[in-house]
Amino acid sequence: MKSPIQTYLEALHKELSSERGGQLASYIPELARVDAEQFGICLVTMDGVAYCVGDTGASFTIQSISKAFVYAAALADRGQEYVATKVGVEPSGDAFNSISLHPHTGAPLNPMINAGAIATTSIVAGDTPEAQWRRIEAAMAAFIGHEVSVDEAVCRSESETGHRNRAISWMLKNFNIVEGDPMAKLENYFRQCSILVNCRDLAYMAATLANNGTHPLSRVRTLPSEYVERVLGVMATCGMYDYAGSWLYEVGMPAKSGVGGGIVAVLPGRFGIGVFSPRLDEKGNSVRGIEVCKRLSRDIGLNIF
Ligand code: DON
Repeated sequence: MKSPIQTYLEALHKELSSERGGQLASYIPELARVDAEQFGICLVTMDGVAYCVGDTGASFTIQSISKAFVYAAALADRGQEYVATKVGVEPSGDAFNSISLHPHTGAPLNPMINAGAIATTSIVAGDTPEAQWRRIEAAMAAFIGHEVSVDEAVCRSESETGHRNRAISWMLKNFNIVEGDPMAKLENYFRQCSILVNCRDLAYMAATLANNGTHPLSRVRTLPSEYVERVLGVMATCGMYDYAGSWLYEVGMPAKSGVGGGIVAVLPGRFGIGVFSPRLDEKGNSVRGIEVCKRLSRDIGLNIF
């Protein structure tokens, strides 16, 4: 017999499938080539059981969702004090690609905007950009629960069109936030955004954070539990960019979106949620993804407040 939660998710998926608002991301040409109709929802419990509906096995690029998990890796590798010298934790209320830097130190306001993510990527453990990439790959694999691969076409497209991110990286180099070769470090950022995931992977990543940093199936601890709270705190206040306030007000869960159409949301101690639908609103968040989270929050009481 189907569980009530599975029945609920199937009804929700069916209802929201008719929502056709939003546009595919097109500022990276390769992102505009995906099937706009794809739609998946997956919810994972703390004992690792996954409830999935729709296109939960379809691959897409993780994009900005990676920022939360690479921030986790940077905290685990360098400690909170050092990380705080490179990136703040204040919501910018600005768009994801805004150049919001502290006026004196040049540190980006938070790790979820591009500037902060580029700074974060530049400080994970590793003596060379190649070694740092291996660290990023390993961290993502631990959160997901299996090895990761990169969409090379998206990665190339990101790099070929990423002039604004290049400008941000040079600004960060100017302020000594990024050390070493900023262009090599930026390539790691493009690469982390191009990691392929599916909706189910996202739900396990979220469930690992919900489970205080331990993957519910592999039982691998991904980061010290004291840092899980930090990551969730910054996701709650900064994870949805200039929609972050409304998100916390209406949905009330730490979350992170990406322009590939994915959203992860975390209900500490209870669920990890992954949603995938590539049509985005003007702030770069998945339209159906936001609607799913609003409905989950309301219908099954997932608002943490
Ligand atoms: O920096 C960029 O342009 C992207 N690769 C990541 C952007 C992203 O996902 C922003 N999110 N909504």
